[in-house]
Amino acid sequence: MALPSLGQDPWNLLDVFFFSLLLLLSLPPATGTGGQEPMPRVKYHAGDGHRALSFFHQKGLQDFDILLLSSDGNTLYVGAREAILALNIQNPGTPRLRSMIPWPASERKKSECALKKKSNETQCFNFIRVLVSFNATHLYACGTFAFSPACTFIELRDSYLLPISEDKVMDGKGQSPFDPVHKHTAVLVDGMLYSGTMNNFLGSEPILMRTLGSRPVLKTDIFLRWLYQDASFVAAIPSTQVVYFFFEETASEFDFFEELRTSRVARVCKNDVGGEKLLQRKWTTFLKAQLLCAQPGQLPFNVIRHAVLLPADSPSIPRVYAVFTSQWQVGGTRSSAVCAFSLSDIERVFKGKYKELDKETSRWTTYRGPETHPRPGSCSVGPSSDKALTFMKDHFLMDEQVVGTPLLVKSAVEYTRLAVEAAQGLDGNSHVVMYLGTSTGSLHKAVVAENRSAYLVEEIQLSLDPEPVRNLQLAPTQGAVFVGFSGGIWKVPQANCSVYVSCVDCVLARDPHCAWDPESRICRLLSGLTQSSWKQDMERGNPEWACAHGPMARSPRRQSPPQLIKEVQAVPNSILELPCPRLSTLASYHWSHGKTIVPDASSTIYNGSLMLLPRDGVGGLYQCVATENGYSYPVVSYWVDSQDQPLALDPELAGVPRERVQVPLTRVGGGASTAAQRSYWPHFLIVTVLLALVLSGALIFLLTSPLGALRARGKVQGCGALPPREKAPLSREQHLQPRKDHRTSAGDVDADNNHLGTEVA
Ligand SMILES: *[C@@H]1O[C@H](CO)[C@@H](O)[C@H](O)[C@H]1NC(C)=O
Ligand SMILES: *[C@@H]1O[C@H](CO)[C@@H](O)[C@H](O)[C@H]1NC(C)=O
Ligand SMILES: *[C@@H]1O[C@H](CO)[C@@H](O)[C@H](O)[C@H]1NC(C)=O
Ligand SMILES: *[C@@H]1O[C@H](CO)[C@@H](O)[C@H](O)[C@H]1NC(C)=O
Ligand SMILES: *[C@@H]1O[C@H](CO)[C@@H](O)[C@H](O)[C@H]1NC(C)=O
Repeated sequence: MALPSLGQDPWNLLDVFFFSLLLLLSLPPATGTGGQEPMPRVKYHAGDGHRALSFFHQKGLQDFDILLLSSDGNTLYVGAREAILALNIQNPGTPRLRSMIPWPASERKKSECALKKKSNETQCFNFIRVLVSFNATHLYACGTFAFSPACTFIELRDSYLLPISEDKVMDGKGQSPFDPVHKHTAVLVDGMLYSGTMNNFLGSEPILMRTLGSRPVLKTDIFLRWLYQDASFVAAIPSTQVVYFFFEETASEFDFFEELRTSRVARVCKNDVGGEKLLQRKWTTFLKAQLLCAQPGQLPFNVIRHAVLLPADSPSIPRVYAVFTSQWQVGGTRSSAVCAFSLSDIERVFKGKYKELDKETSRWTTYRGPETHPRPGSCSVGPSSDKALTFMKDHFLMDEQVVGTPLLVKSAVEYTRLAVEAAQGLDGNSHVVMYLGTSTGSLHKAVVAENRSAYLVEEIQLSLDPEPVRNLQLAPTQGAVFVGFSGGIWKVPQANCSVYVSCVDCVLARDPHCAWDPESRICRLLSGLTQSSWKQDMERGNPEWACAHGPMARSPRRQSPPQLIKEVQAVPNSILELPCPRLSTLASYHWSHGKTIVPDASSTIYNGSLMLLPRDGVGGLYQCVATENGYSYPVVSYWVDSQDQPLALDPELAGVPRERVQVPLTRVGGGASTAAQRSYWPHFLIVTVLLALVLSGALIFLLTSPLGALRARGKVQGCGALPPREKAPLSREQHLQPRKDHRTSAGDVDADNNHLGTEVA
């Protein structure tokens, strides 16, 4: 592995922990993680029309926790509180309810639950926790059933759910937790359910269990303490011979002044049938190892939250992608990391040395005794290999840790779930795309770059209130991700490429789902039908190369010419406001006027917009230039025409299409009342400052030119009493009305440049 390991020796690791903790205590919180973390290139607020999403909800239903895609990809089965739903997701738009069956906990169980001091308002319900496709005609579901776990088969008829009869409900202990807040995981493999959850009411007895199917039911033995009593399972992933479980628990192998949590992967063999004399009906192949997700020299992200497998498209190795948070909060917020673990690394660790507990010192050390055959814990151990089984009882923890590659670290963000897919770019290479749900109800779309660091294409705020993402389910045939919340399910299309307005923007976005089509001049979603003329540069995101055409290709320029010039008429006594849409949070922006950088004496920048005071020589080309990824391009170009002296357009820009637009104006004559109408206090201040500039300019003029004094005085006085028709500013009505958030949405100017609900942080 390229990543430096924190050391194989627990003492070594302990030192690192101590050192890091000291570091943490002695440093200001902001330095807790490196400063180089990725920012989402585009951010969408809840309800932003540029990322039109659909929301499914159903009156009286809540906790849309469990999502299951049918094998044909056209139905989404949902486990909500006391109900199971089948949604038709075949058509674009909002998922439609196909059928719904109630599955409430029985009245008897509910009253028993209330007697045990659990809340009849929030806890004593049947929260669905397991929902799997059992066979072609049946689903299998389990729920908390008012703190008395229950499971049942659900018959399907053409994707319609048939009602559950009470006599079909079975005990679900070990398959669903008792308490809805306890973690759980389950996966169906070869007709058998492998589950990891809490096995008792108090939540102090974790269990790994195999049920259903023809093989014997197997469990972990609580007396052997293979799992710490607080083990919390987040994922189960089957492989060829084994099933992996991902969880976190208190690390008993490290002595530490506080309870140290650690993330783990455990595995059991599919062919395990339990022991004959020893370990009857118990796992005989259980092994666990530590998972490490850390940046060099930083505190490890020691709490795993979710993990998924990205199956390999040969020749690459299948990898497990997992989100982690940290046990420690830095500056009151948690940070998160995504790490990738290759299955071959995991396999290697399980073939390596064991740890054992030294009974005298009660410390864990590396087992250095003789090796035995068959190897204890391996899938070739038979039910009667008593020697191996005896050894197994005390040697279930692997000596080496599985070290992950950190792909992404975000401070002040707590990822709760992830979904991962491989997206094929235009060049045929496959790119790993991760959808990350946060604890505050937003979704991050991240792409893993060649150098194994991920960048964030976008952030979409889904829920209005900050509430955690409960679940994510990719639906590849629909090109969408379904996101479960307490109140419903969002359907999020993988991308909306048309938000990228130009080739430059499309290429800089580096979204593997999007490519620029130069013929129709649209950023398009990559589907089966792509054309060789389309442009994308996933590797470098370099528009200079990808967007070059014609003579540009031969003589590369540092800055591309504008695609459109907006003509603006300068109006005497009015401040022009030239908005600049923020297409990307990763870009830095500046304004230029011909060869000079503005603002100068007659302009200022307010909230990204250039506020321009018409004066002599103010006419000409104004450009808002964005610089991103080492590439500069004009986001918007304005040609300001001055009334007195019409200007000739630069011959170099002769071929560029032009369009006359209107921009927000603020009258400086009688400025106070107009500015007040717009009711923007900072805006008012700027206007006042500029007004002071004008007046002082006028004053100087007055003092220096006695002859012009009369004229000037007349002009200043006249300002307050303009003819009514002149009083109406040239801008559209809406600029006079205060708007709630977007003061100068570029849509007020021209639809062409308004494609992003971007906000610069
Ligand atoms: C995609 O973006 C375009 C341009 O901003 C917008 O008009 C359209 O409604 C969006 N579509 C979706 C499905 O979000
Ligand atoms: C919960 O129990 C209380 C009294 O024990 C009762 O008044 C209330 O209606 C119950 N709530 C529900 C939702 O059943
Ligand atoms: C599916 O499983 C159920 C429950 O065990 C069983 O009743 C049914 O016959 C099975 N269906 C098929 C097609 O095997
Ligand atoms: C990976 O590449 C991106 C740009 O493509 C760069 O910003 C980042 O610093 C690189 N990371 C590493 C670890 O080299
Ligand atoms: C600055 O501009 C952005 C978008 O153009 C807008 O959302 C924000 O409200 C503006 N801020 C102020 C203080 O006007």
